[in-house]
Amino acid sequence: MTTSINIDTKALGGASPAQLQSWDAAHSWHPFTPMTDYLASDPVMVARGEGVRLQDIHGRWYYDGVASIWLNVHGHAHPALNAAIAEQLGRIAHSTMLGQANVPSTILAKRLVDLSPPGLDRVFFSDSGATAVEIALKIAIQYWANRGRPSKRRILGFTNNYHGDTMGAMAVAPDPIFHWAFLDLLPEQPRAPYPYWYHAPNHIKTDSQCMEYSLDAVRKIFEAEGESLAAVIIEPVEGAGGICPAPRGYLRALRELCQSHDILMIVDEVATGFGKTGSLFACEAEELTPDLLCMGKGLTAGYLPVAATLATGAVFEAFLGERRNTLFHGHSFTGNQLGCAVALANLDLMPALMDSLAPKIDRLWGRLAALEGRECIGDLRGRGFMVGIELSADPPSRRGFPPDLRAGYQVTDAARGRGLLVRPIGNVVIFMPPLASSIEDLDAMLDILVESFEAALPKLAEQAKSIHRG
Ligand SMILES: Cc1ncc(COP(=O)(O)O)c(C=O)c1O
Repeated sequence: MTTSINIDTKALGGASPAQLQSWDAAHSWHPFTPMTDYLASDPVMVARGEGVRLQDIHGRWYYDGVASIWLNVHGHAHPALNAAIAEQLGRIAHSTMLGQANVPSTILAKRLVDLSPPGLDRVFFSDSGATAVEIALKIAIQYWANRGRPSKRRILGFTNNYHGDTMGAMAVAPDPIFHWAFLDLLPEQPRAPYPYWYHAPNHIKTDSQCMEYSLDAVRKIFEAEGESLAAVIIEPVEGAGGICPAPRGYLRALRELCQSHDILMIVDEVATGFGKTGSLFACEAEELTPDLLCMGKGLTAGYLPVAATLATGAVFEAFLGERRNTLFHGHSFTGNQLGCAVALANLDLMPALMDSLAPKIDRLWGRLAALEGRECIGDLRGRGFMVGIELSADPPSRRGFPPDLRAGYQVTDAARGRGLLVRPIGNVVIFMPPLASSIEDLDAMLDILVESFEAALPKLAEQAKSIHRG
């Protein structure tokens, strides 16, 4: 599947592949990447992209099976998106939003309000998912302080949720492996179990049991600590936690609990937003308006770094009046015109794309059924275009493979060799292609993915046996 053709040397910036590789090894520090492993590996270096494929510096093409970390929506180098950036560039690239406005960010704010759940009337722009979350957390805490209830300043998060890598985002989703060096610096926050059965105690088997189990825990925390709680933050589908969807109806039930206890609800749709679950926002499918909604990634179709925190009018009003009520928060690139222009072009393309999704989602899950119940596959799950396939050394007990076996990488390395880029998170192989993938693209990617599991599973089964023996 991996084809080799001549690469356009301009795409290499005047350097040779060998030079680029040695400069990368000598100078680049990659995000979320154990660099010792990276430096011992033969990493892909992308030179260009076209549609749903990426070309490396040697001219090899790969399908972008994770949409460049869950960002890309309409494919790479899309003519309308490229043109929107070029056209805006002819006018201006950036001017500040501090105390003044600009045209594309104004129109984008209006359009985001129009297409978001009703009642979310205000848009605060920033430049990454983590900043969208930080802003939501700060708004929630200051909202109560501005309203004369400064003791409400803690945030309830959910186990295995991920909200980004800044201090506030880590504090509401601390992880003993990723954040061990910072744990004592993060203010301790209450946490409730995320409602996904595979990660719940073994006696929990169904969605409704799982929902009750999680809501019970939330209720108890609200009753005991509600006076100190500013907000709850939740992902509709746990992304980095392994693509675990909350049962349908859970968000609405949580919303009602929040309302009855005077606690704000923040929904983090950085991963799920812009069509990934099959609806534009997961909140839309639940007919739910949270107090604050975070979006990023797909907002610009994955082209430029723009994120947004949407707030209801009622939340915004608490920041009016006295000067000290102001949200004194901002980033230099807030409201960047190039980013907002491409986000607007993305929104123009969205309705037709959304209309095309249902048969593609059916095809995707139909093809994945080939992996159901196979040895060492503990759980196959997700929603819409978000897929997680969890490997297990013993599916009945849901026991994982130890990290040093790199179980997920055994599958994704096999896929890379066949021309598909996918990335595991621990024991979970994540597949999340661009939404614009055609049925033929999906078939080609799934042929490779299934074949890669077939290639990796026999060795994993052997390793599982020796774990049991050991
Ligand atoms: C749900 C969620 N929130 C926040 C973030 C952080 O976004 P960013 O990487 O743009 O800071 C991510 C990133 O994967 C995410 O999945």
